[in-house]
Amino acid sequence: MFICHTAAEIREFVRGARAGGQTVGFVPTMGYLHEGHLELMRRAKKQCGVVIISIFINPAQFGPNEDFTQYPRDLERDVKMAGDVGVDAVFNPTAEEMYPAGYCTYVDVERITERLCGLSRPGHFRGVATVVTKLFNIVNPDKAFFGQKDAQQVLVIKRMAADLNMDLEVVTVPTVREADGLAMSSRNIYLDAGQRQAALVLHRSLKMAAGAVASGLRDASSIKQLVIDMIKTEPLAVIDYVEIYSHPDLEPVDKLWGPALLALAVKIGRTRLIDNIILEVLDHVSHDV
Ligand code: PAF
Repeated sequence: MFICHTAAEIREFVRGARAGGQTVGFVPTMGYLHEGHLELMRRAKKQCGVVIISIFINPAQFGPNEDFTQYPRDLERDVKMAGDVGVDAVFNPTAEEMYPAGYCTYVDVERITERLCGLSRPGHFRGVATVVTKLFNIVNPDKAFFGQKDAQQVLVIKRMAADLNMDLEVVTVPTVREADGLAMSSRNIYLDAGQRQAALVLHRSLKMAAGAVASGLRDASSIKQLVIDMIKTEPLAVIDYVEIYSHPDLEPVDKLWGPALLALAVKIGRTRLIDNIILEVLDHVSHDV
């Protein structure tokens, strides 16, 4: 596997792949890989000739009181895991490579970033949109793969790619869960055994909401209240938000009439977890539970 740390090196690798007639799939990550990331890589491998991942903990998307310095890191383990699923190249730049002295250009996606995690984490999506734009410009992939677990992130990146005429396809891959339903996340490593158990309330409440919608409940505030009530039964859980918006436009909804995103952010101890489900009312089914 090819491992490199500079934009020039990965560009050269991509040029070689293209010269050999290969399509390029790209999975941007912040490392500390888990099964959710590996699923993105497997999908990329199925759909593209060459798969490149980036491992870069992007300082620009962390707030001043967030977990940038504690964010788990293990490059050796990540490289081994990526190699095992057939990744061809790892781009692991330094912060100086991505944001050299004098750096002053940022990408702001409006409207859909002004809710959900955009409210709780000011500047987060500006950091995500900026680094993803830079990574797209460096790697120049045909397809880029993102997990539905970060539902708002995927919508922001799709919007940005469309608005800025980026010449690539953004592919969404369903959330990968542990056997007991907990959505895979690099941050799950922060949870102790009791917190890990408490965290199951996120998926439990999403499933309960999907069941209520399947039984005919359409009123968004009643659905939200059911979810809030269930999360509050868990003493270790502190709600950041429970929201329902139309999907994919993220417009407010009173009554469910089409696909709607039910999204949660909940703190368990000091760990902030997010999860979501798309509630589909037309055929009385809910995806991705
Ligand atoms: O989802 C992530 O891990 C990050 O937000 C991403 C897309 C790699 C950008 O830093």
